This record gives sequence, C-alpha cells and structure tokens, in this order.
Amino acid sequence: MGEPQSILDPLTPAAMFLVVTIDEGGEAVARDLLADLPGLRRSVGFRVPGSGLTCITSIGSAAWDRLFAGPKPAQLHEFPGFAGEKHQAPATPGDLLFHLKAETQDACFELAMKLAERLAGAGTIVDQTVGFRYFEQRDLLGFVDGTENPEGQLAVTAALVGDEDPEFAGGSYVIVQKYLHDLDSWKALSTTEQEKVIGRTKLDDYELDEAEQPANSHVAVNDQAVSGNIVRANMPFGSVQDGEFGTYYIAYADDPAVTETMLTRMFLGSADAAYDRILDFSTAVTGTSFFTPPVAFFDALPD
Ligand code: HEM
Repeated sequence: MGEPQSILDPLTPAAMFLVVTIDEGGEAVARDLLADLPGLRRSVGFRVPGSGLTCITSIGSAAWDRLFAGPKPAQLHEFPGFAGEKHQAPATPGDLLFHLKAETQDACFELAMKLAERLAGAGTIVDQTVGFRYFEQRDLLGFVDGTENPEGQLAVTAALVGDEDPEFAGGSYVIVQKYLHDLDSWKALSTTEQEKVIGRTKLDDYELDEAEQPANSHVAVNDQAVSGNIVRANMPFGSVQDGEFGTYYIAYADDPAVTETMLTRMFLGSADAAYDRILDFSTAVTGTSFFTPPVAFFDALPD
C-alpha cells in the first residue's frame, strides 16, 4: 500500500478547507500546482516551527478526467445529492479540495494564500471555510464530535483503499458538506432533549443506553456496525457578523458507498427512522466528493 496523505493524523486546533473549481483551460496550471504542492507545504510548514502544517489534497471525478490520461480510482464519482421528504443534501461544484491542518491558523493561511496565487486565472475558490477547535473537540451544538472515530488498524482499513484497487492503494474517498445550525431552535431544547437528538450525553459524552437512545438520534442512524466505518475530521466554523454557525463535515473512507449509505439513512430514512433528527437543526448547504491519492501520486506528476 502506498503511503497515505496525513488523513489519519489527529485533529489540530486550526484547519482551513478550500474547494476549488478549475476554469476552462486552467488544467495545466492545476496540474503544475499539484506537482509542486508537497514542496510548497514544506516551505510554509518549515518556517512556522511547531505548526505541524499538513495539506491533504483531493481531486473530484470530472477534474480527474480533465487532468489525467491514466487510470482512474475505481469508485470515484460525483456526489449524488440526497433528497428526502423533509431534508435535502445538495450536490455542489468542486474539482479540488485542500484540507489544511495546523496547530496555528497562520500556517494554514499562508499556504492558502500561496495556493490562491498559483491558481489565479486558472481556478476559482468556490468555498473557503476556516475551522477551529471549540473547547473539548465540541461542535457548535455543544457536543463532543469525533469520539467514535475508528482507531489504529481499524482506522487504516476504514479510511484507506487496499488491494481491491492496487493502483490507488493508500488513497481514500472523501466527502465534504457544510452544515449550518439553527442555534435558536437548538437552544430552545432542554439538555435532555438535545441528548436525545444526538444520542450521547452532552457534558461527559457517554453514549445513551439503548433504551434511552431514540432510533432517529444521530448516533443511532449512523451506527457504524450497520454502514461501515469512516474517519471524520469535522470542524466548527462561524461568523457572529452573519449569524452563521456551522459544522464542516468531512469524512474519509475506503469506499464512498459507506458515507453514502449513512447519508441515505440520514436524509431518506430507514425501516427504523424517517430521518436523522439532527437535520431539524442543521441544514446541508454544500456537498462534494473527491479522491485523495496516496503521496507517491503527486511525486510522480511531471514538474
Ligand atoms: C457521531 C456531530 C454530520 C456520521 C457524531 C457525534 C456528534 C456528531 C456530536 C457523536 C460523537 C462522535 O462519535 O463523534 C455531527 C454534526 C454533524 C454531523 C454536528 C453536522 C451537522 C454527520 C454526517 C455523517 C455523520 C453527515 C455521515 C454521513 C457520524 C458517525 C458517527 C457520528 C458515523 C459515529 C456514530 C457511532 O459509531 O457512534 N456526529 N455529525 N455525521 N457522526 Fe456525525
């Protein structure tokens, strides 16, 4: 298996997510940037000692066809979107995803500026989201987010492509969605009611007993024993000026079908629940799928 990008590294206090579309005719510039990325990351990261700057770079299905003539990851396709009776998950454009992580935001921002400079005239940044650690890895709903992520070897098998697609072993499929929270409605609930929406206790983050955990709670709907495991790296984001409070959802999996199964259960429902109750308080405003190649893929691109 090829060395993966830093998908399995722990969450950092600072992150930035850039979704980029490649303009018509911008393919050569985008390809050059992808080839130079490891060096650009080193230049910025080395100048900010202790920043631990990483940049996980991923490529969308249509962009893959435009940029590369060779083989394509077997399961790479566009985000299908999910339309339930009450809640929808839209599919939105995106050719490249840069998932920047660091101990401090300055390192993320400096690399983001360099990426934007290199893409000028060849690509459009369609979304920039600045993520931050909020207290004890909590989301802006106040719940600890990320606890049941797989660890160790389970994380490796959950996130990384293996022998089923040898050419791309060590790669991963990533899905991102921006969710906006209706904090007024959320805060109108009691803590006990909020815990029934999530399926875990709020203060100390224990899973509710089966008897107390509603079938439409977020944790029950996303039971990884049913859908399979994914590696999430969600981050809160927001703006008090715009009254925008959200969760940037990002999950890596060895097969996009795992996350898509979860989204089907969340939005379209299952035999057990009509939909995920978290959606009454959180609205998906973007949705895009990408493939995250292993490190060697970028090294092999011609300079
Ligand atoms: C669990 C928050 C969207 C999949 C959780 C937990 C929280 C949370 C607080 C419990 C702690 C944990 O294990 O991490 C959120 C928020 C979201 C969101 C605020 C956006 C509004 C999603 C989406 C998916 C998903 C879109 C899948 C497509 C999962 C999974 C678990 C989980 C697999 C672990 C379930 C378990 O095994 O116990 N999420 N989540 N989440 N979430 Fe989400």
